[in-house]
Amino acid sequence: MRIAPVLLAGALALAGCGKSETPTDAPAADTGTGEVAAPTAPVEPTAAMGEQIFRRCVACHTIDKGGSNGIGPNLYGVAGRAVASHAGFSYSNAMKAKGGVWDTAALDTYLAAPMKAVPGTRMAFAGVPDAVDRKALILYLESQK
Ligand code: HEC
Repeated sequence: MRIAPVLLAGALALAGCGKSETPTDAPAADTGTGEVAAPTAPVEPTAAMGEQIFRRCVACHTIDKGGSNGIGPNLYGVAGRAVASHAGFSYSNAMKAKGGVWDTAALDTYLAAPMKAVPGTRMAFAGVPDAVDRKALILYLESQK
């Protein structure tokens, strides 16, 4: 549990990301980060966006190379990896029985609704319902290898 403070800091940073009204007299925000885009503007998913979304995962997953397993397995290189194959992690029988490889489609289905996609999974997480968020998240996962 020695990584807990880092994870907590991440969670707090996320909590601080809540939407706030842009003051009406402020110049149009254009920081180039994509974080202040108007809510209705179409958003092109990027790995950088996905990195922000990954903050929802850090309570249970590390993604640095050689990172430790936590409540969930380390996710470095998970894209393209055989399901339930990370050394040293004790997967549920449901995940072990799933089979296959974490390709883009498999990640998308799983992350939309983990407990529906793999009934009996120990990943107690409701999922990432927004398709654009999910696409960004998967781009990020695919970039970490
Ligand atoms: C509450 C803890 C928790 C959260 C939050 C969580 N996971 Fe998981 N995750 C797990 C556990 C536990 C497993 C192993 C599941 C099993 O064995 O059934 C897992 C498994 C996975 C796997 C399969 C890994 C493999 O080696 O086969 C992927 C991919 C994954 N999680 C991605 C994510 C992503 C992306 C997020 C954030 C959007 C996330 N998880 C959020 C706990 C969590």
